[in-house]
Amino acid sequence: MDVTEQHEAKTALEKAYDEIKKSEGQLQLVIDTIPGMVWSGLPDGAFDFVNEPWLTYLGLSWEELSARGGLVSVVHPDDVEESVDRWNATRSTGRHTDHELRMRRADGQYRWFLTRALPLRDDLGNVVKWYGTATDIEDRKRTEMLLAGEKRLLEMIARGDSRALILDALCRFVEGLASGGLSSILLLDSNTNRLRHGSAPGLPTKYVEAIDGLVIGPSVGSCGTAAYRGEPVIVSDIATDPLWADYRRLALAHELRACWSTPILSSAGKVLGTFAIYYREPRSPNPEDSNVIGQITHLASIAIERAQATQALQQQANLLDQAHDAIFIWEFPRTIVYWNRGAEQLYGFSREEAIGRLGHELLHTEHPMATPEFEAALERDGEWTGELTQTIRDGRKIIVESRQVMMRETDGRRLVLETNRDITDRRRAEAEQKRGAEALREAQADLAHVSRATTMGELTASLAHEVNQPITAAVTNANTCVRWLAGDTPNIEEARDAAIRSAKDGTRAAEIISRIRLLFKKGTTERDVVDVNEVIREMIVLLRGEATRYAISIRTDLAADLPPLMADRVQLQQVMLNLIMNSIDAMKDVDGARELAIKSQRAENEHLQVSVSDTGVGLPAQQADEIFNAFFTTKLEGTGLGLSISRSIVESHGGRLWAA
Ligand SMILES: Nc1ncnc2c1ncn2[C@@H]1O[C@H](COP(=O)(O)OP(=O)(O)OP(=O)(O)O)[C@@H](O)[C@H]1O
Ligand SMILES: [Mg+2]
Repeated sequence: MDVTEQHEAKTALEKAYDEIKKSEGQLQLVIDTIPGMVWSGLPDGAFDFVNEPWLTYLGLSWEELSARGGLVSVVHPDDVEESVDRWNATRSTGRHTDHELRMRRADGQYRWFLTRALPLRDDLGNVVKWYGTATDIEDRKRTEMLLAGEKRLLEMIARGDSRALILDALCRFVEGLASGGLSSILLLDSNTNRLRHGSAPGLPTKYVEAIDGLVIGPSVGSCGTAAYRGEPVIVSDIATDPLWADYRRLALAHELRACWSTPILSSAGKVLGTFAIYYREPRSPNPEDSNVIGQITHLASIAIERAQATQALQQQANLLDQAHDAIFIWEFPRTIVYWNRGAEQLYGFSREEAIGRLGHELLHTEHPMATPEFEAALERDGEWTGELTQTIRDGRKIIVESRQVMMRETDGRRLVLETNRDITDRRRAEAEQKRGAEALREAQADLAHVSRATTMGELTASLAHEVNQPITAAVTNANTCVRWLAGDTPNIEEARDAAIRSAKDGTRAAEIISRIRLLFKKGTTERDVVDVNEVIREMIVLLRGEATRYAISIRTDLAADLPPLMADRVQLQQVMLNLIMNSIDAMKDVDGARELAIKSQRAENEHLQVSVSDTGVGLPAQQADEIFNAFFTTKLEGTGLGLSISRSIVESHGGRLWAA
């Protein structure tokens, strides 16, 4: 090789070297200007390069970073352990799986990154170099966390966790999202316009106590003002903001410098409370913060409203417990979902035992109608009222007055509110009363019978006379008949007439006897259409003998147009018997004309009136009212029951008996 060649070779080499230099510089330029973050490392894992955008993010020079101990020094303390483990595993296996970690930005805030790494191997497969990237996934991560947190909180709300627990979880959740932030939820008491402590797990207890019960107003810190205005109040620096004039010292004493407060609004737009984030340094919210605050206040509103609704329900349930009636709710068509104290007391089943059971099975409910019919009625009318027979825990049967109302829930469920009142005692008393009334009626009937029989017994002589008369006549007529038939030329005409008369007399005697028998009979009361005039006439027939015995004349004035009467014939006869006998008694010993007058007439309103009057001694002076009392009598042999029985008979027929 000559000098020229040598020179050319050197130039070429230099040129090539320049080219390499240039492309390396270009590569460096590319690496440093791409928007991503790139690093490289030695086979043992030691980082030997981090690109410019990464250093800018960290706010450190390569030297500063190295001096601090490399990248591990900027990883979030909570993520260090796992990151180191992962990196060790990556090096030993030569393979890297995606990993997420937080790194501190120049301003101190941590952001989430997705890290990836790839090894460069030589021909033998040995790792000679590591290359890796870190991608900012903060936005995705926040969205994920927000969604997960929201889900967890909604689950708590749906599960019915206590308001305190939910608000606490809300605050902690926000504090996890907003690094360095301390959150607080205050609840507005709309009656007093005071803000009460809701939750503030991170704030100093002394501070929390100091602001509890704050009255809201136009310049009462961030929360008092936000609740007053009904709109967010962002105070970036408590030290200078005029809204904090009265509370500045308190806040600064607890090293609180910024406070952003947002009212929590109900679905109807009413202020329920406030949600606030405090910081220990002056600070304004960025769009991400606003987004989180929006979500959180929304969740808080759901939690508080739900808690209020539950509380209202609880209060109603407590009220239902005060009720004396048994009240329970079942989901149509059967399962019991609510059971008040009254139900526990009435049925003997505790709430725990009853809820979830099938109501009709638990209580062996007997409906007055078939079950499908009852359910159809309830569905059609939305309510049902009636009496049920149910069996309580100890096996006793009870009767309840039941009112059932169907409520249709917005979710399509149909609930039935059943209110039952035990009327077993009332029904039993009624039954006893009914039995008592029956017994009384029976006793009265017995008494009436005895009295009738007694009176009739006393009348034996007269009655015998009364029966005797037609019999005597019949005998006489029979003899006449025989005479007309005897002899040579029997007069058939006359004999037939006498025989007919004799038969009539016999019939008359038989009729009288059957009437007397009827009066002696102990009959059950039977109502029929009765001709009152006929009753009067019959009694006159029976008592004519007695009247004749005392020379008493009987005069009747019976109206032909009497309205028909539904009555017990024998009972009416008894009344007439008593009245006529009393009249006869009253006239027995008087001098002068003895006259018994019986009058029947039509009275007002389809009534009929019968009067019995006599020319006897007259009613006992000053005791006219008492004659209807049982056992009142002025007679030696009297029982004093005649008028009392008569009055109760007349009254049981809807009439009235009086003396004038
Ligand atoms: N027509 C009358 N005239 C006068 N006093 C009468 C008349 N009817 C009833 N009294 C009076 O009323 C009383 C009560 O009558 P009531 O028929 O209830 O009983 P009593 O006739 O005394 O006894 P009993 O009916 O058992 O024979 C009589 O004792 C009598 O003093
Ligand atoms: Mg009498």
